[in-house]
Amino acid sequence: MLDLDNPEVRPLEAPLDLARRPRRLRKSAALRESVAETHLRPSDFIAPFFVIPGRGHSEPIGALPGIQRYSVDRFLLEAERALELGLRSLLLFGVLPDAWKDPLGQSAADPQGPVPTAIREARKAFGEEVVIYTDVCLCAHTTHGHCGVLKETPRGVQIDNDRSLPQLAAMALAHAEAGADFVAPSDMMDGRVGYLRRTLDQAGHTGVGILSYAVKYASAFYGPFREAAGSAPSFGDRSSYQMDIRNAREALREAALDEAEGADMLMVKPALAYLDILARLRPQTQLPLVAYNVSGEYAMLKAAARAGALDEARAVRETLMAIKRAGADLIISYHAQEALAQGWI
Ligand code: PBG
Repeated sequence: MLDLDNPEVRPLEAPLDLARRPRRLRKSAALRESVAETHLRPSDFIAPFFVIPGRGHSEPIGALPGIQRYSVDRFLLEAERALELGLRSLLLFGVLPDAWKDPLGQSAADPQGPVPTAIREARKAFGEEVVIYTDVCLCAHTTHGHCGVLKETPRGVQIDNDRSLPQLAAMALAHAEAGADFVAPSDMMDGRVGYLRRTLDQAGHTGVGILSYAVKYASAFYGPFREAAGSAPSFGDRSSYQMDIRNAREALREAALDEAEGADMLMVKPALAYLDILARLRPQTQLPLVAYNVSGEYAMLKAAARAGALDEARAVRETLMAIKRAGADLIISYHAQEALAQGWI
C-alpha cells in the first residue's frame, strides 16, 4: 500500500505559480502518442540479406544471432515474409566461397552470381512491390579482402583507387542489368559515385539510383559482418579508405562530394556512435539520409539482452527511434524483421 498521507511531507505554504508544466503533455499514453515527434513505420527500414550460391541452404551466423545466410530460393521465402511485415526495401550482400575469389574480385560482376540471381528472382516474384538495394564493394570477392584492387608501389602494397573504379562499376552494372533499384557503393574509393553514375547512364540505366555509403567510418562495429560475409582483410586494415573516427567536418565534405557526383541518397555508417554526424548532416542536404545500424551494434544489444542485462524490446525500439530522431529517413537494421514481427515498434 502506498502511504499517501505521509506526515513527513510538508504541505505547501502557497500554490506554486508555475505557468509552464511540461508534464501536462505526458499525462496519459493517449496524449503522449498524440504529441510524439518521431514515428517508425515498416517502410522506414531496409532489411539486409546475405545471399549464397546454390539452392536449399541456410546457414546461421555465429556472430549475428537470429540472422542467416540464404541461398536464393530461401532468400525469396524470407523476402516474402519481410514484405508481409510491411517492409519495402531489401539490401543484398553476396557471400562467396573462397574458390570464386581472385585479386581483382571479378566474380562481383558475374551475372550468374548470387546477388544478380536473387535480384532477378525477387523482381519476378514481387514486381514493383519491393525496392532492391545492392551493396557494391569488392571485399567479399577479392582474395585479399580489401574493398579495392591492389598495386605494388615503392612504399609497399597499396589500394589502387582509380583502377578499382571499373571493377566496382562492372559490379554495379551487373546489378542494374538484373533489375536492382539502387546500387549502394560501400568501398569508399574517391570518385566512385560519379564513375558509377556515368557507367550506369551510358548503359541506359538512368533510372537506377545510387545510395552512397558517403560517410563510412573505419569502425570496430563491422566485426560480425566480416564473419557473415567472409570479407575481413587478409592484411592491414581499411583505414586508408574508410574514415577516421575522430573526424566530423570530413564527413560533411564526403557527403557534399557524393551529392555533387550524383548520389540520390546518402548514408552514415555506423549509426549509434555517429548520431552527431547524422544530426549535423541533416541540414546540409535535401537528399534522403540513410543510417546503417551495423552488425556490431546489433550483436552488442543481442548479447546484453541474452545476458538479461536489458529489456530487448524496449532497447531495440529506443535505438531505432534515436536513429530516426537524429535525422535518418531510412534505417538499415538487422533488427527490422524481428522488431516488426514482435510488435516492438
Ligand atoms: C563492405 C561492407 C561492410 C559493411 C557493409 N558493407 C564491411 C566493411 O566495410 O568491412 C558492414 C555492415 C555491418 O557491419 O553490418 N565493405
